[in-house]
Amino acid sequence: MEKNNKQTDKTVIRLECITRNFVVGDETVHALRDVSFSIQEGEFVTIMGSSGSGKSTLLNTLGCLDTPTSGEYYLDGVSVRTMGKNSRATLRNRKIGFVFQSYNLLPKTTAIENVELPLMYNPSYSSSARKQKSIDSLVAVGLGDRLNHKSNQMSGGQMQRVAIARALVNDPAVILADEATGNLDTRTSYEILVLFQRLHVEGRTIIFVTHNPEIAHYSSRNIQLKDGRVVDDTRNEHVLSATEALANLPVDED
Ligand SMILES: Nc1ncnc2c1ncn2[C@@H]1O[C@H](COP(=O)(O)OP(=O)(O)OP(=O)(O)O)[C@@H](O)[C@H]1O
Ligand SMILES: [Mg+2]
Repeated sequence: MEKNNKQTDKTVIRLECITRNFVVGDETVHALRDVSFSIQEGEFVTIMGSSGSGKSTLLNTLGCLDTPTSGEYYLDGVSVRTMGKNSRATLRNRKIGFVFQSYNLLPKTTAIENVELPLMYNPSYSSSARKQKSIDSLVAVGLGDRLNHKSNQMSGGQMQRVAIARALVNDPAVILADEATGNLDTRTSYEILVLFQRLHVEGRTIIFVTHNPEIAHYSSRNIQLKDGRVVDDTRNEHVLSATEALANLPVDED
C-alpha cells in the first residue's frame, strides 16, 4: 500500500457550480454542468468518464487554461475569475504543472531545452541556473542519461518523462495530467504511475484524467463525470502500489 502522510486539511481547489458551455453554430454544448467539489492539498485524484464527458474541459479549467461560463473557481482560496490576466498566468506558472497525452515537447529539441522552457518566463534565473534546474528535474524522473537526446530520439515513455520533468521544474504544488499514460504500453504506464505515486508521497496534489479504470486503484480518490456532471466521487481506502504492480507484471506482457 502506498503511504501518504502529507495530506493536509488545506483546500487547494474549490469549484462552486461550474458550468462551461461551448456555442458552435446554432448548437450549445454543455461540457460542464454545475460541477462543485473541493480538493485538499496532497490528494491524488483520478477523473474518469467516457469520451466527451468533460474531463479535459474540467482539467483546463483547473489549470486556468479555460474560463468557465459561470460558477467560481478558487485556487488556494483566491477566486481565479477576479484575478488579473498577469497574476493568473504567474500563479499558473508557479503553482501548476501540466502533463499531456501527446507530451507536447518541442521537436528536434533536447530534453534539457524542453524542460527549461517554463523557467524562461522567470527572469530571476540565469541561464546556468536554468540548465541546472532542468538537469535536476530530469535526473529526478530517471532520465539523467538522456539529457541531450532530442525528442525524436526518445521512446514514448522517455518523452513522457521529459514532459513530467518539465511539469516539475518549477516545483509546482499541483500536477494536472490529461491521459498521461494514454499512448503508453502497460509496463511503461506503470513506470509513469510509479513516478506519479512518488510525487504524491512527496506531498504534491495530483489530478489525473484517465480512461483506464485500473489507474483509479492507485489514486486516493476517484471522480466520475457523465455528460458534464459529477456522478460519483469516491475515496479509495486501499491505494495499491504501482511499484508492486510493476514488479509483478509478466515479463512478456505489453
Ligand atoms: N473548444 C470547444 N468548442 C466546442 N466544443 C467543445 C470544445 N471543447 C470541448 N468541446 C465539447 O465539450 C464536450 C466535452 O469535451 P472534453 O474534451 O472535455 O471531453 P473529454 O471527457 O476530455 O473527452 P475525451 O475522453 O475524448 O478526451 C464534448 O462534447 C466536446 O465536443
Ligand atoms: Mg479529453
